[in-house]
Amino acid sequence: MTANLVPASMNPLGVDHTPADALVVFGISGDLAKKMTFTSLYLLERRNLLECPVIGVAVDDWTDDDLRQHARASIADDVFDAAVFDRFAARLQYVQGDFDDDATYASVATALGTAQTTVFYLEIPPSLFERVVRGLHDAGLTEGARVVVEKPFGHDLASARELNDQLHAYIDESQLYRIDHYLGKLAVVDVMFLRFANTMLEPIWNRQFISSVQITMAENFDVSDRGSFYDRVGAMRDVVQNHLLQVLSMVAMEPPTGHSIDAITDRKRDVFVAMPDIDPAHVVRGQYAGYLDTPGVASGSGTETFIAMQLQIDNWRWADVPFYIRAGKNLPSTVTEVRIVFKHPPRLGFQNEHAHRPGPNQMVLRIGPMPGARLALEAKAPDAMALQDVHLDMDLAHEGGEGPTPYEVLLYGAMHGDRTQFTREDAVEQTWRLLQPLIDAPPPAKIYTPGTWGPEESEHLVARSGGWHQPWLPDQAASPGAPA
Ligand code: BG6
Repeated sequence: MTANLVPASMNPLGVDHTPADALVVFGISGDLAKKMTFTSLYLLERRNLLECPVIGVAVDDWTDDDLRQHARASIADDVFDAAVFDRFAARLQYVQGDFDDDATYASVATALGTAQTTVFYLEIPPSLFERVVRGLHDAGLTEGARVVVEKPFGHDLASARELNDQLHAYIDESQLYRIDHYLGKLAVVDVMFLRFANTMLEPIWNRQFISSVQITMAENFDVSDRGSFYDRVGAMRDVVQNHLLQVLSMVAMEPPTGHSIDAITDRKRDVFVAMPDIDPAHVVRGQYAGYLDTPGVASGSGTETFIAMQLQIDNWRWADVPFYIRAGKNLPSTVTEVRIVFKHPPRLGFQNEHAHRPGPNQMVLRIGPMPGARLALEAKAPDAMALQDVHLDMDLAHEGGEGPTPYEVLLYGAMHGDRTQFTREDAVEQTWRLLQPLIDAPPPAKIYTPGTWGPEESEHLVARSGGWHQPWLPDQAASPGAPA
């Protein structure tokens, strides 16, 4: 990344792309800042893409120097460069205050001075969003401002609508940037590029040629110290309603047209609108054995740490093509992929009648780690008149060099008024709408052994489509046809 992260085509007339002249981070003393924000801002500084002061706000009794030390401690040594850090540290300023106290917003106003285009980044619990945005509004700080909010955005359809209404009382939808860090992953955006920039793909990307789509997000680690957060959300709210439905919409959407800032989100919204409400009978929930011993988890909790589901898209492109999603903690590996399973070819007429029928071709888009694309084909085995699997693999990181991290992309996008990589009110509400029946009547979570692929019912869910396929792991090319 050398210059502008916002593609020129996404700078339509009438959209506010004025660069931010201040970034204010509410909740700067929290965990997310330590894990992501300081490093992302530092990396933007290293790329000469950070252009404004950064004001941190939190209740802790810190000084500007404390904030700088905290920033230093959050940046890993292997990316640290003293000269870059000095530039970054010079931008940092701290405002101490209680978010429930109007005086805090007056202090923020003083720190902002004459800033006109401020980005307020709320790294705080959603229950505080309304209070903070009201405080900013009442202090006269919201005009010309952008407000970035962290996920989760609501915990069901009603709460998402309520939160939208609360925030819209003070700011317009065009000022609201809802984070889903998957939209800052280059591999996710690349789904759109691969699909629409390659003539050979688009004609076969539909129900005539594709039999099913499998989206897997596997993590081989447990909930760790996030028990009290995770127990209230579970796998569905943590990664399916947001990250994986966003990925699904990239895979399934029609080609965006026009230069409007909404062109891409409109097409993604169309996918969600075409999806019927989920049938809880097509969902398997699981909980790994030992989860209940995690600090912060309620005793006897029924929260799922694994979920598998079948979804439908009722439109001309996708009717009758099942879209399967599975996500979980404590699975055998860590990998997120989209697997397009094409239809079965017929038996080969020139082989004898006992020969195997060729397996379906598959296209795998690995979102991470190590983004890549794989085409699984059938070819002749070198030493026999028989079939063998062959893979055409592409390592995207290798092809393009080191790309920016998702939070760099998103923070840069917010600071330059690019809403294309954030989620929009109507699309978010559609995702909650289609999941609401599951929220209302979740099937019980079955216990699974850590290190396995979840409850065996997950396999039954996909049986008519040939079962789950072993994911393509970064360093170990698994056979596309092998069952997981
Ligand atoms: C977060 C979830 O949003 O995404 C985590 O809260 C999950 O539970 C994480 O581990 C995965 O993100 P990534 O970028 O590592 O795939």
